[in-house]
Parts: sequence; structure tokens; C-alpha cells
Amino acid sequence: NEPKTVEVNGKEYTTDDAWFNVPPNVLAATSRKLHLQKDHPVYITRKIIESQFPQPTYRYHNNFDPVVSTQQNFDSLGFPPDHPGRARSDTYYFNKDTLLRTHTSAHQAQTFKANLSEGYLVSADVYRRDAIDRSHYPVFHQMEGARMWDRSKYADGAVANAIWADVNKLPKHDVVVEDPNPPYHPERNPLQEAHTPAEAEAIGAHLKRSLELMVVEIFTRAKTAAAKADPDYKDEPLRVRWVEAYFPFTSPSWELEVYYAGDWLEVLGCGVVKHELFANAGVPNQLGWAFGIGLDRIAMLLFQIPDIRLFWSRDERFSSQFTGVSDDLSSLRRFVSFSKYPACPKDVSFWLRPVSAAGGNPRTNTQDFHENDVMEIVRDVAGDRAEDVRLVDDFTHPKTGRRSVCYRINYRSLERTLTNEETNDLHSEVTRRLVDRLGVEIR
Ligand code: PHE
Repeated sequence: NEPKTVEVNGKEYTTDDAWFNVPPNVLAATSRKLHLQKDHPVYITRKIIESQFPQPTYRYHNNFDPVVSTQQNFDSLGFPPDHPGRARSDTYYFNKDTLLRTHTSAHQAQTFKANLSEGYLVSADVYRRDAIDRSHYPVFHQMEGARMWDRSKYADGAVANAIWADVNKLPKHDVVVEDPNPPYHPERNPLQEAHTPAEAEAIGAHLKRSLELMVVEIFTRAKTAAAKADPDYKDEPLRVRWVEAYFPFTSPSWELEVYYAGDWLEVLGCGVVKHELFANAGVPNQLGWAFGIGLDRIAMLLFQIPDIRLFWSRDERFSSQFTGVSDDLSSLRRFVSFSKYPACPKDVSFWLRPVSAAGGNPRTNTQDFHENDVMEIVRDVAGDRAEDVRLVDDFTHPKTGRRSVCYRINYRSLERTLTNEETNDLHSEVTRRLVDRLGVEIR
């Protein structure tokens, strides 16, 4: 008996049994809004990025509701009807047309339409069904930014020059940028029909310089904090590189990667906004760029936070370490772990439900199986006491073709030692629900 209506931030939504898949812990997270909690690492990260996109050129929107329509989240952005992101295994739905936004781009159309400023930043909580590990949580935070120019304000063909003038007003930086990509590419990253080559090049240049400056600001702060904490810290020059990308709502599109602490990190996605979006929003004279960045991973790296679940902890030993930082960013310091409580790994092996009249895959002789359903059962039962869940065995019987899998669940609290009894109880409840809900057979 699923609820018929669900309340999120004071508004009621009708649920549909065939679509509703939002577990209570995810629903509860909609009220947390970590990007608005003063001195939370996600809040501080938002402030650092906002400092690079000053008002009034950029207007900040931090209170958009997390419940949006499939039109806002997918259709308005040109996602095809069969895009995998729409699947119920990946996205939280209330009903066929209503879901928890999976990205801040869900607000592009309405923000373009409102047309309140030349640029904007949208920060918000976003939701995706996903694996369980130290850097994934079904709720995280994104910031989206955009900058527009109005072609009708300039003489014919003059907007490109105006954009270049704005590029030249941006500060310079001295970071090594690897950018082997052409400004656009006929197959991989096409110029839009609505743009002249000069316009696309100017928008791309403004986009790249603006985002490079943002990344320099973030990573310079991360390095300063790391050096303060470690007297042996070896400073390495910052390197960034641009990689071609694809998004249904931008062209050309890129990702920005940063070389930090020995790894290339994918930091953000961006591109030149497709003309259709402006045209559909009733502002056909606009042209410009947009980007989207995940705040949680950046916050983890800025403060060296080892586990994303800490963001959701209400433990004083966590929050007190950031007090005052947003008023004085130079006081930013690495997070110091409080003692680590022991982990308790437990395995569960099961045969997947065999193929039947109800459906399934005749080749593997088993019914369709989504790992995210296992993840959700574990989260439902153990909440933040599950640290990670890993597939450790995947076996197909040579004769019957039946498939069995084994998952290793690591139970650990960040705040206390779990008793044996408690972990055993959690694990038997997980096992019971796997049988009940997924119809698997325990080995
Ligand atoms: N919404 C995209 C994502 O979540 C990021 C993006 C935003 C890309 C804006 C281009 C422009 O991956």
C-alpha cells in the first residue's frame, strides 16, 4: 500500500503505484538543502564559485523546488524518449510525469524564459539512483551557470565583437591549459545553424576563460589548505584540459578536467546553448553558454573529506570544523577525521529469479535485474550505516544458464561502533527484502 500523495517542501504530489519509487530516506533529504546551510562544506563551495560569477551580471537562484516534470528535466532539453536517464532504475519518480530532478539543467527553460539577467547561477539538490560507495549518494548538489547575449541589441553581425570585448574584460590566469580541440567540429561537435562561426568562437572563448578562472580559484584554495595541513606538501603546478563532450542541449560541448593530486578529475560539463532552447523559451534573440558542476565532489576535495555520508551527518565533530569559514575563506582548512569505527563486511549470494511467463531474458534464463534495486534495499534498511556495496561474484551455471551474484555489503557507522547484533539484524532484513521484493533465491 504505497501512499497516494506525498508532501515535499509543503507541496503535495499524487503518486502512481506503477511509477512511485522514492524511498523514505530520499524523501526526507529534500528538506536538508545542504547548499543553504551556513558553513556546511557544500555551502562554502557554492560561495567560492559564486565569488567568480559576480552579481548583478549573474543572478543567483538557490530555492528552486526539487520536484519537476519530465518536460523540465528531459523533454525541454532535447533528451530522446528512450534516453536511459529516464529509466525508473536511474531516476526517482512520483508518477509518470513528475520526478525528483536529476540535474540543475531542469531549470534552464524557465530561467531563460524569465530572462531576468544576462547570466545566472542555479544551485540545488539533485537526485539519482546509483551505486553505494564513499563518493556516491542518491542526493547530491549541482550548480548550473549560464551567460547570454541579446543579438538584437547589436548591429547586424556585431554581437561576436561584443562577446570578445567581454572576454577581454575577464581576468587572466597563468595555468597551463591543454586544449587541442577546434572551436567546433562538423561531426563530433557541430556548429549550430543559428550561429556564425565567429559567434560560436566568441561564446566558446568566453565560456572557457570563465570556467578556467573558476577552477583556478577552487584548486588554489584546495592546495593552500592541503599545504597548511602537511609540512611536506609538494606543490605541483595546476594543469587543466578541455575534452570534447556531448549533451543534448548544447553544441559544441566540452568537459573540463583538472590534474590534481596525481589524477585527471572530470570537473564540469558545458557548451554553447542550443538555439531551440532559447526559441522555445520565447527569447529567440539570445545566444550564450551554460555549464553544470557537481558541488559535493569539489567540497570533498577542498576539505579532504573521505566519505560523502559525512555531509549528511548531524554530528558536531563534523560541523564544528567549518564554523566561520564562509565569512573568512582564508580560514579554510582540511577536515580532520574523527576516529574511524570498525567496518563489518557481510556477503549475500543469490540466484536471480528464473525466466517465466512474466518476462525475462531467455539468453541468461533470468529475469531482468537492476543492481540499483539492490542498492536501494540496502539504503532503505541500513541508511547511512552502509558504506559500500560491491559485486564480488557473478556466476552463470554452465548447464542451466541460471545466473547468481554475490554482493559484499560493508556496514559501518561514521559516528559509533555497530554491535554484532545490530549488523546481523540489518543484514537479515536486507536478505529478507531481496527475497521479498526481487524474488531472488538465497544460496
Ligand atoms: N546537466 C549536465 C549534467 O548533469 C551538465 C551540463 C550543464 C552540461 C549545462 C552542459 C550545460 O551532466
